[in-house]
Amino acid sequence: MKRKNLFYLTIIGALALTSCGGDKGDVVETKEEATPTGDVTEGDITLTAAEMEEASMLYFDRCAGCHGSSRMGATGPHLLPDAPEGNNAPGTKILGAAGLKAFIENGTPGGMPEWKGILTDDEIEVMTRFLQVTPPVIPPFG
Ligand code: HEC
Repeated sequence: MKRKNLFYLTIIGALALTSCGGDKGDVVETKEEATPTGDVTEGDITLTAAEMEEASMLYFDRCAGCHGSSRMGATGPHLLPDAPEGNNAPGTKILGAAGLKAFIENGTPGGMPEWKGILTDDEIEVMTRFLQVTPPVIPPFG
């Protein structure tokens, strides 16, 4: 019995080596260079892992207090791509980059502060993309 198992293992090992030995190195390389975990693409919106991290921190610092750490809404409306059922706010996909930018830059008399001059143009641009994709899962606090 034991010997037979060993025999099969050897065969399987040999097969594995011949079938994907050559590609293995390439796959690993690509993983390290071009596909860091955490890049996000939804529809035609893309954020690199670094942009996701930057925007998450910005959001947490500047926006979460009023819009909720999971973007579900608090004193301010939710900022999810699609409106949850029964919620009046349209969802960030409908607002789109231009609509989001206008809200963020100018604020509203209804309690949304204006961020032009506080956030850089680049930060606002990343935020408009961040708000259109599914919020990252927030690790539970203590
Ligand atoms: C002081 C609380 C507060 C903070 C901080 C805040 N917001 Fe708001 N935000 C609001 C309120 C209140 C509204 C609703 C305004 C209205 O209806 O006139 C709003 C509306 C919005 C809207 C329009 C949403 C919709 O569906 O109408 C967007 C987009 C938005 N905020 C993004 C942001 C972003 C991005 C940040 C961080 C940079 C941020 N907000 C920080 C209170 C806040």
